Amino acid sequence: MGERLVSGSLREEDASLDVSLRPRRLAEYVGQDKVKENLRIAIEAAHQRGESLDHVLLYGPPGLGKTTLARIIAAEMGVALRVTSGPAIERPGDMAAIITNLQPHDVLFIDEIHRLSHVVEEVLYPAMEEFFLSWVVGKGMGARSINLKVPPFTLIGATTRFAMVSAPLRNRFGLVHRLDYYQGEDIQTLLRRSASILGVGVQEGGIEEIARRARGTPRVANRLLKRVRDYAQVMADGVVTAEVAREALARLEIDSLGLDEVDHRVLRTLVEKFDGGPVGLETIAASISEESDTIMDVYEPYLMQLGFLARTPRGRVATRLAYQHLGIPYTTQGEGAQAALWPEAPPPKE
Ligand SMILES: Nc1ncnc2c1ncn2[C@@H]1O[C@H](COP(=O)(O)OP(=O)(O)OP(=O)(O)O)[C@@H](O)[C@H]1O
Ligand SMILES: [Mg+2]
Repeated sequence: MGERLVSGSLREEDASLDVSLRPRRLAEYVGQDKVKENLRIAIEAAHQRGESLDHVLLYGPPGLGKTTLARIIAAEMGVALRVTSGPAIERPGDMAAIITNLQPHDVLFIDEIHRLSHVVEEVLYPAMEEFFLSWVVGKGMGARSINLKVPPFTLIGATTRFAMVSAPLRNRFGLVHRLDYYQGEDIQTLLRRSASILGVGVQEGGIEEIARRARGTPRVANRLLKRVRDYAQVMADGVVTAEVAREALARLEIDSLGLDEVDHRVLRTLVEKFDGGPVGLETIAASISEESDTIMDVYEPYLMQLGFLARTPRGRVATRLAYQHLGIPYTTQGEGAQAALWPEAPPPKE
C-alpha cells in the first residue's frame, strides 16, 4: 500500500519534502500546543539546572511530527542528536556501543521503539535510570559481563504503537506525550508556511480545500500541497485557488474529507457485507485483502477520529455518520451493530 496518497506513512516522494519543510525550532512547530508548552517548560528547567532533559516518549499516528519534534528538542537543548530505530539495534552490544559514544546531555532518538528486542531493552533500563550500562559479551564459559558508567543523556522514543511498548520501558520515561491529529486551523497555518517556503502562490480558498482533506496530518497536507501545485502549474496559471485545489484533488480520488478508495472499501465492507457490524478486524481484513495490522494502524485511526467507525468489544461497527457520508440510508443498519454501539437502549431509528 506504498502508493496511498493520504496515508500518513512516509513514502519515497516525501523524503526531500519532509526535510525542506521540517520546522527547526519549537516556535516554528505548528499546533500541539499542550505538548509544546510542556516540553518548553521541561527544556528550560533542564537548562537552568544544567542537567540533561528527562527521557521523552512520543506516540501517535504516522506523519504527525514525532521525528520533527525529537530534532527540535535536541536543537532547543543545544545538543547533538543521534538517530536510530528499534529494528536497527539487534544486539545488546550495539545498544551499549551507541550509548557509550554519546556526549553528555546528547539526545538519542530511537524511532519505532516498540520494536526493540527484550534483551536490548534490558540494556536500556539501568542506562535510563542511573546512566549505568551492564551487558554480557561472549557465550558459555567465555561469557563475561561489562559494567560501565555513561554520561547523562536524553532518550527520545517514538512509536505509532503505544500499547506495544513494554511497561518497564514506558515507566522509565519522565515525559510521555501523545501527538493527536491537528485541528483544521493548524493545518491551514502549516500549509501557508509550506507554500511560502516552496514559493507556491495560494489563495485562502485553496488552503481550505487542501486542509479539509489532509486528515489532520502534516505529512499528508504537505504532500497534497505539492500535488496541487503541480496541477496548478500545468493546468492553470500556477496559483492554487479553491477551484484548482478541488479539481486537482478530485483527480486524485480523494473525497471531501480526505478519504480515499481504501477507506471507502473498509466502510462499504462493514456497511454492505456485514450490515454495519459488529464484525471482527480479521474478517474485514480478509474481505478487502489487507493486513489487519495495517487496517488497525493506518486506516482505522482516522475513521474513528471522524466518528465513522467504532471499536466495540464485539467488533467494528459503522456509525450513522459513516452511512451519511456514503449516502446510504441508516435504516439498513443491523440490529447487532446497534446493540454493540448502545448496549443499554438503542436510539430510535430515523
Ligand atoms: N507541527 C508541525 N509543524 C510544521 N510541520 C510539521 C509539523 N509536524 C510535522 N510537520 C511536517 O510533516 C513532516 C512529517 O513529520 P515527521 O516525520 O516528524 O512525522 P512522524 O510522526 O515522525 O512520522 P512517522 O510516524 O512516519 O515517523 C515533517 O517533515 C514536517 O515537514
Ligand atoms: Mg518519524
